[in-house]
Amino acid sequence: MHLISIDDLSVEQIESLFSTSDGFLEVASRPIKKVPTLRGRTQVNMFFEASTRTLTSFELAGKRLSADVVNIKASGSSVSKGESLKDTILTLESYRPDILVMRHDKVGACRMATRYTNASVVNAGDGAGEHPTQCLLDLYSLRREFGDLRGMKVAIVGDVLRSRVARSNIFGFRKMGIDVRLVGPSTLMPPGVERWGVPIYEDLDALHDVDVVYLLRMQMERAKGKVPPVPSLREYSRLWGLSPARLRPGQRVMHPGPINRGVELTGDLADDARSLILHQVESGLAVRMAILYHVLAPHSEGDGLI
Ligand code: NCD
Repeated sequence: MHLISIDDLSVEQIESLFSTSDGFLEVASRPIKKVPTLRGRTQVNMFFEASTRTLTSFELAGKRLSADVVNIKASGSSVSKGESLKDTILTLESYRPDILVMRHDKVGACRMATRYTNASVVNAGDGAGEHPTQCLLDLYSLRREFGDLRGMKVAIVGDVLRSRVARSNIFGFRKMGIDVRLVGPSTLMPPGVERWGVPIYEDLDALHDVDVVYLLRMQMERAKGKVPPVPSLREYSRLWGLSPARLRPGQRVMHPGPINRGVELTGDLADDARSLILHQVESGLAVRMAILYHVLAPHSEGDGLI
């Protein structure tokens, strides 16, 4: 099966994925962190956009499951010579990969890839579209930290406009019973956001009763020649940047990374024990191992993950 959108998964499938992740988290604590689960399988990671966490965790996840893992990046590959996405995928298809993990700057590129490959395609971020594996690792981090997800309150703050993480997280968090609200200037909210059915606030006062503040990165690289949505980063950080003083007791902070210290959050908050940012990265490896395992596992329930 493919994992293109968080909507591809039911609550039961997500819970089953988390049980598998628990097992892989335990594997990561062993001196020898490798299991034979995907021995003989081939995993191709096609990353046409920059990445640190997502690429390294998918690569390490495949290697720890004993798969043969190959990485392809746009720069240094024939994509930089003008090869089309279709031709790149058809070329790789000759090697009969089992899993294609793909990141691309165009919305819908991963779904398109499913037409040209027999491999299971996993969306590792498609433009401002979706980032379902980030949503799953965030949910898993929340579950590890808080236990029950149902009834939790999370505020997603900042650059919703250009964020695929926000899209996947809003829908995935709500699916798991989390109360989600958006906070930020209206210029950073996408057109039609009111139809998503989540409350939207302009002011950080809306954080007063949440369990978690989920910060989004200001995605300056996506601005390319457009009018910037905020007058200046200094003003943004003054009005919407988070500091330890703006957090209430018991609240936790999350961020998908990479962080802009001094923009979305102060450096001291990033390093504070209330920040779950590195905990998210640790969860990411276990969850991505579980995803690789589940997309290939024999289908015992419909065409789902299990
Ligand atoms: C996110 C992404 O690439 O969408 N990062 C990530 O995968 N860890 C968020 C971001 O770039 O801000």
